Amino acid sequence: MIDPFGRPITYLRVSVTDRCDLRCVYCMAEDMTFLPKAEILSHEEMDRLCAAFIRLGTNKIRITGGEPLVRRDVMALFRSLGARLGHGLDELTVTTNGTQLAKYAEDLRAAGVRRVNVSLDTLDPAKFTAMTRWGKIEKTLDGIFAAKAAGLHVRINAVAMKGVNEDEYDSMLAWCGEHGFDLCLIETMPLGEIDADRTDQYLPLSVVRGRLRKTWTLEDTSYQTGGPARYFTVAETGQRIGFITPMTHNFCESCNRVRLTCTGTLYMCLGQDDQADFRKVLRAGATDADLETAIRAAIAHKPKGHDFVIDRRTREPALARHMSVTGG
Ligand code: GTP
Ligand code: 5AD
Ligand code: SF4
Repeated sequence: MIDPFGRPITYLRVSVTDRCDLRCVYCMAEDMTFLPKAEILSHEEMDRLCAAFIRLGTNKIRITGGEPLVRRDVMALFRSLGARLGHGLDELTVTTNGTQLAKYAEDLRAAGVRRVNVSLDTLDPAKFTAMTRWGKIEKTLDGIFAAKAAGLHVRINAVAMKGVNEDEYDSMLAWCGEHGFDLCLIETMPLGEIDADRTDQYLPLSVVRGRLRKTWTLEDTSYQTGGPARYFTVAETGQRIGFITPMTHNFCESCNRVRLTCTGTLYMCLGQDDQADFRKVLRAGATDADLETAIRAAIAHKPKGHDFVIDRRTREPALARHMSVTGG
């Protein structure tokens, strides 16, 4: 699958639920309305769509949410997708907040998952509760260490928030080094209404990298994970630090991904509204060939890139869709 700008589309992100057991302040409003079950694809429908993507050249699938591991039948999806590894699919991964990992880490590994990205924005228990609105850090930490014990490679995802966690990146880098985790810092993106003013929270990672270099030796590396992160090896720890910079450095020119939501909507870009309704296609009795035709038609409309902006006058984000709809 090659999009109109010559980019091979090989990475499918699948959001299996819009629900979450936390309410990270940059991601959701406190009071969210979630989707009724009838609107949500079954795991069989999701697997069938994923299989069509794999036939067309997708080799990497990442399961996201909301929080993917709060969906009851999610392990059935991991098992059916895991059986596709080595048959067109090269990697099956998940991005999670970690609260259910203690329960599922072993099963994920058994299904063929080798790498997990876990969101953890702070190591301070009180700050963690404030940033997630009610979360307990112990649960996420237990999950992270269960993942490590199960033999999963862990990357910690931290959204950079001005005045909130910006004093912690040194200690987080040291902690990750100690435990053998990579760390990935992410610039906050303006998606959806969230109760706070986003312009106050944004911290450019170009600034953070300059600060980190005072303490750490960041060496260039060719390591890539197929996502938007640019990595460096931290000489002092031997682990890696990644930077995801949608705001300061637009990485859209090398975009390889599209995202499917739990209702079967395919979004061609995280930062645009271009979409295609696959639930309608599936539930109209589509054959595998029909699905493939619909996927090709959707990819032909992938936009060139995002232009995340906040309206200067209203201070509202240009995109009304919350991050939890697509899982990033
Ligand atoms: P790896 O496979 O480890 O490279 O994972 P990843 O970085 O692709 O996935 P993850 O779910 O950990 O996402 C990390 C951050 O990258 C999240 O904030 C996502 O929203 C963001 N991200 C992923 N893809 C895109 C994209 O196409 N555009 C933008 N703007 N952000 C993205
Ligand atoms: N900007 C950047 N990253 C975000 N995430 C959630 N909301 C945002 C946002 N507004 C991150 C989560 C998770 C990943 C899927 O996306 O922390 O690690
Ligand atoms: Fe939940 Fe993830 Fe959003 Fe936090 S970032 S509220 S853990 S979906």
